[in-house]
Amino acid sequence: MKNPPKAPKRLAVLVSGSGSNLQALIDRTEDGTLPVDIVRVISNVPGVYALERAEKHGIPVKVIPHGQYANAGEFSQAILEELLRCQADIVCLAGFMRILTAEVPLAFPGRMLNIHPALLPAFGGKGMYGHHVHQAVLDSGTQFSGATVHIVTEEPDAGPIVLQKIVPVLPDDDVESLAKRVLEVEHEIYPQAVKWVAEDRLIIKGKRVAVKED
Ligand code: GRF
Repeated sequence: MKNPPKAPKRLAVLVSGSGSNLQALIDRTEDGTLPVDIVRVISNVPGVYALERAEKHGIPVKVIPHGQYANAGEFSQAILEELLRCQADIVCLAGFMRILTAEVPLAFPGRMLNIHPALLPAFGGKGMYGHHVHQAVLDSGTQFSGATVHIVTEEPDAGPIVLQKIVPVLPDDDVESLAKRVLEVEHEIYPQAVKWVAEDRLIIKGKRVAVKED
């Protein structure tokens, strides 16, 4: 007898801004290439475009403004409660601009992902967000940048690397042109990495990640 089909994994996405990575995840679920249900979009900032994108696709949203909490620990607790309430199996940070304390990644071991707009472990960590990342890449003179999907651990930008894609840095690039080129590859690799997690295909040993054959 055949096994009954498994229910799709439940994905929650944390955002703070435009949500183009959220859109890439939504698009892949809708075209059937990413087998997850996006059950919640959580923003720490009210009124951002990511929330509008979610609502357009009928995804329930929740705003948890960080300013209403005394410290990062209490804010993180509120985020964790919402993730548990919506019974998320997988959590994606997609342009989420707050640092969460350790209890959140610890509740989703190997199942909480972030996307970073550079080739980690270079150009990550403290102060490396948004245009600062691309400016640092340009200032360094490196000829390549890219995007990294990694597992979220207690240390920002330092978890095991799941997937990276390289783009060239061109001589006449500025922050905007480089960010645009990097964002295009972000939209390719994030859904792919989430798919591997949803299919339980990651083998994580220390910092190294292997992907089981399909
Ligand atoms: C992306 O560049 C991502 O790498 C970084 O924040 C940006 C979010 O963009 N973490 P968007 O909100 O998904 O458009």
